[in-house]
Amino acid sequence: MNGNFEITILVNNVSSTPDLITEHGYSLHISDGERKILFDAGQERQVLENNARKLGIDLKGVDTVALSHGHYDHSGGLEALLSVGGSVDFYAHPAALSTRYSVRPERVKSNGMPPAVCEAVHKLPQSRRHWSEEPVMLTKQIGLTGYVPRVSEFEDTGGPFFLDQYGRVEDLISDDQALWLRTTQGLVICAGCSHSGIVNIVRHVLEISGGGRIYAVIGGLHLVNASHERINRTIEALEQLKPELIVPCHCTGAVATDRILEHFSSRAVIGASGQRYLFEQV
Ligand SMILES: [Fe+2]
Ligand SMILES: [Fe+2]
Repeated sequence: MNGNFEITILVNNVSSTPDLITEHGYSLHISDGERKILFDAGQERQVLENNARKLGIDLKGVDTVALSHGHYDHSGGLEALLSVGGSVDFYAHPAALSTRYSVRPERVKSNGMPPAVCEAVHKLPQSRRHWSEEPVMLTKQIGLTGYVPRVSEFEDTGGPFFLDQYGRVEDLISDDQALWLRTTQGLVICAGCSHSGIVNIVRHVLEISGGGRIYAVIGGLHLVNASHERINRTIEALEQLKPELIVPCHCTGAVATDRILEHFSSRAVIGASGQRYLFEQV
């Protein structure tokens, strides 16, 4: 009999129970029964640790950490995990370590990986650090997309992101990547913030996985600043793929989340920490 993939939302802006701490951040725990993967780590270590404890997940059992991108709300919780003696395999695009900012007229904010986490990454043994510019398989059935080509004309990074604090050099967030799983129901795509655009991500997964059916899309869709046109075109493009499950999380934004729930109806669920999704392994 095949086993199950278990995907648990550990950290998110919304929670399913009051004992789980919410924050502007995102983290998933993904297990196939053997490998224990942390996909992103939220913003605060205490949040990650509290929620893992409450959900019965032992972070010491994590053998693989994969980052969707280097923003602080996905990497901030990582320091302790990476400092536990080099027993964790770490996957990220090298640009995840960039110094970067969100630049708005009223506020400039450093939004990259915290320095202590960067240092912990640099201190990892070289054999444990894996730079995923290209697609990479973590197991036979679980892959990382690496760099996602920006093809669709209506998607962008979704915010005022720059590599300098004066707003001169645009940050294309080339480190943005997603994790995907091959299940008996079809492909399951886990996105972090979707700064590449969720439609670009889904199309890229179809290409690198050899195609097939998209069963589920789970993650931050970063439509929080998106125009109605972009939201509509995103929904249209996703609808063409006929997914059975869409779980908008984290930075999807209230307007886009409402539109997704309205359109996909029983196929959409608002993502909340504490939710567990099971998929049968191929
Ligand atoms: Fe985010
Ligand atoms: Fe982000």
